[in-house]
Amino acid sequence: MFQYLTALSFAALVAGQQVSPPPAEDAIYDYVVIGGGPGGLTVAARLAETASVAVVEAGGFYEVDNGNSSVVPLYSLTGMPFLDTSEQFPPSPLVDWGLLSEVIPTANNRRIHYAQGKTFGGCTAINTMAYHRGTAGSYDRWASMVGDDSYTFTNLQKYFTQSCHLTAPDLEKRNATNTTINYDPEMCDNSEGGPLQVSWNNWVDPTLTWLGKAVEQLGLTVSPEGFSSGTLAGHFAWIPSTIEPAKAIRCSAESSYLQEALPAGDLTAYPNTLAKKVLFDSSSSNRAMGVTVSTNGIEYTLSAAKEVIMSAGVFHSPQLLMVSGIGPKDMLAAHDIPVISDLPGVGQNLWDPISLGIMYTVNTQSGASITANPANWPISLEQYGDAGGPYSSAAGFIAYEKLSEELRSTLSDEALQELDAFPSDWPDLEFVAGSFPGAEGTNTGSITATLIKPFSRGNITIVSNSMNEQPSINLGWFSNPHDEEVAVAAFKRLRQAWDTDAANTVKVGEEAVPGSAVQSDEEILEFLRGSVNQLWHASGTCAMGKSTDENAVVDANAKVFGVEGLRVVDISAFPFALPAHPQASVYMLGEKIAHDIKNGR
Ligand SMILES: Cc1cc2nc3c(=O)[nH]c(=O)nc-3n(C[C@H](O)[C@H](O)[C@H](O)COP(=O)(O)OP(=O)(O)OC[C@H]3O[C@@H](n4cnc5c(N)ncnc54)[C@H](O)[C@@H]3O)c2cc1C
Ligand SMILES: *[C@@H]1O[C@H](CO)[C@@H](O)[C@H](O)[C@H]1NC(C)=O
Ligand SMILES: *[C@@H]1O[C@H](CO)[C@@H](O)[C@H](O)[C@H]1NC(C)=O
Ligand SMILES: *[C@@H]1O[C@H](CO)[C@@H](O)[C@H](O)[C@H]1NC(C)=O
Ligand SMILES: *[C@@H]1O[C@H](CO)[C@@H](O)[C@H](O)[C@H]1NC(C)=O
Repeated sequence: MFQYLTALSFAALVAGQQVSPPPAEDAIYDYVVIGGGPGGLTVAARLAETASVAVVEAGGFYEVDNGNSSVVPLYSLTGMPFLDTSEQFPPSPLVDWGLLSEVIPTANNRRIHYAQGKTFGGCTAINTMAYHRGTAGSYDRWASMVGDDSYTFTNLQKYFTQSCHLTAPDLEKRNATNTTINYDPEMCDNSEGGPLQVSWNNWVDPTLTWLGKAVEQLGLTVSPEGFSSGTLAGHFAWIPSTIEPAKAIRCSAESSYLQEALPAGDLTAYPNTLAKKVLFDSSSSNRAMGVTVSTNGIEYTLSAAKEVIMSAGVFHSPQLLMVSGIGPKDMLAAHDIPVISDLPGVGQNLWDPISLGIMYTVNTQSGASITANPANWPISLEQYGDAGGPYSSAAGFIAYEKLSEELRSTLSDEALQELDAFPSDWPDLEFVAGSFPGAEGTNTGSITATLIKPFSRGNITIVSNSMNEQPSINLGWFSNPHDEEVAVAAFKRLRQAWDTDAANTVKVGEEAVPGSAVQSDEEILEFLRGSVNQLWHASGTCAMGKSTDENAVVDANAKVFGVEGLRVVDISAFPFALPAHPQASVYMLGEKIAHDIKNGR
């Protein structure tokens, strides 16, 4: 109860800043940032230290619109039914765009609901808050692809560290000596006080300790330095979350960067305001002059004296570029959009790592099962009043590995070649342990594997010249058959995990999903086509690259090719999906590009 009131008063504080939103009329700022997710708010907050900045966000404030479903860590797993990926998802239009993909012919003709935050904070208002960084080799690949050494893992350190503030694990509250945590205490620059709070859960889900042990018994070892130190393969880790530890509430791009910048900097936030079109001065150098926006049906123009920054996320940044005249010229022509810059790569190169899972009923408890029982509410709420107990916690066990020789031997030479084309430290699979309440007070454990070297590519196209319609999303899952081979191998690996001593100690009865009837490779593949899901890490639809790369959309400083005064700063500008939960790297990119802009690059 106490926490809920805290969340409400926090929302009121936010509303206090925003009670009279800026007037819905033409205005001019040095920078106009489109989208209030981690990319947009990081760059906006840093620019607002020395310039005037407007941030345009289609949604409102999640603390008000989604309440403790967004604020309380456990509810990131149990409290947001709209994260359902099926076509029948329950809509939550105040905080989610409700995007539905096109039918995926290679995934049982499913259409996927791809949740995306529509609120200040963007997806960091609805995500699972896992915080870690990719492998050194993945950023080094980024550097070589864009021809700029400032993207090597070593050179990116300062942007990672200056974005966050680290709190050491509270081992007393965690009360779980069997969850070894190793980390680099310097991974955040606490002296400069980066606003993003990174901390460890104050409670450990007992089921996850057992499933984690099962993954360990596959032969993985605890990460010696934690998963933000550039090495992942062969290790497991209890990773930190973006949780504000004193109250154990979600720390989002909104509660960190925006809340810090609103009083301190020259920042104006436009809630419930849709960016409809970027305007260009076509008489000269195609300079971005501003943005047409709409608040409650009132259209007006926010002009940018210096630059427009596009941070609308992986689906909407390419859509808004195309609607504004930047994209493949034939597609623009088909919708009567005058071509400002013919860039065939806009909306292409969608990397979307997919996950598959196996579940059993287990005899252990979990946060979800404990809080599903009303008899446990008083004690759990009391613990949460002290920032502990199951409500304070959001998963936390992940692991990465390269496929074993045994499983590699099941793959075609072509699939092996594709796997081996990645940097050598890039793992093949990620494992995540999870738990859900089952029927009649039982508890279900899941171990999922994610294909973090996805070979299939999807795309985003437009169906009209209006931002009032959603883009057409082709996820492309399994469109490259080598992904099917790796997925079948990953499934077999999960069965190995469920056959370890640790798993055998806790599992009850037969395999619950998919069940023992699924045995042959064909049966496994059929199950996978009907069940794989996103991990919500879609990336790369406005890819960064060299000017000689015809599919590149932005250069190494995130500037859009063929125009002036326009950058893309969000996960769409990544050249590929990193081998990592990506939010740490989105904040990093926001810090880096803000630094570039301030230094005249
Ligand atoms: C369910 C879920 C779970 C996840 N779990 C994790 C996790 O545990 N760890 C992790 O690292 N990552 C996780 N992620 C991914 C991570 O949150 C995203 O990669 C990250 O938020 C992307 O940041 P972004 O700035 O590129 O875009 P977004 O966060 O998508 O922000 C874009 C913003 O732009 C706004 N916008 C879009 N179009 C317009 C327009 N036309 N006008 C005005 N505003 C507009 C949107 O409303 C949104 O607020 C998860 C994502 C989801 C959805
Ligand atoms: C969430 O909000 C409800 C009121 O809508 C409240 O009863 C409940 O205690 C809150 N839960 C937590 C964990 O704070
Ligand atoms: C700590 O864990 C032990 C073993 O699971 C349990 O018996 C004990 O009650 C826990 N202590 C607290 C304070 O939660
Ligand atoms: C780890 O410790 C916790 C807390 O004491 C306990 O509930 C859990 O069963 C343990 N897990 C394993 C794998 O021993
Ligand atoms: C997008 O992907 C779909 C499905 O793979 C494909 O049919 C279509 O041609 C692609 N569109 C573009 C413009 O690349």
